[in-house]
Amino acid sequence: MPTVHFTDAEGTVRDVEGNAGDSVMETAVRNGVPGIVAECGGSLSCATCHVFVREDCASQLPAMEDMEDEMLYGTAVDREDNSRLSCQLRLTDELELFVTTPETQV
Ligand code: FES
Repeated sequence: MPTVHFTDAEGTVRDVEGNAGDSVMETAVRNGVPGIVAECGGSLSCATCHVFVREDCASQLPAMEDMEDEMLYGTAVDREDNSRLSCQLRLTDELELFVTTPETQV
């Protein structure tokens, strides 16, 4: 079962089991993980689902599409090299992902 470990800006960790095929954003929202706003519901138009992916997890994720890359310039907290929009990250069966949520999304 896929697992996502969310660490918030204060360092609190929430470990959440998800379903393959769901996005990291959907998994967060469904489990009440704070720090993911997801105003647009995953249609790639809000950039309020920003996460920082732990470096050693990046290779498990799909490559970034141009639109996601563009939207990452509109995040509330500046993007970094490991920034992704969590609505674009689909869980796969064996995925174990560590992400940090930014201090604010809006
Ligand atoms: S939920 Fe809006 S861009 Fe990800």
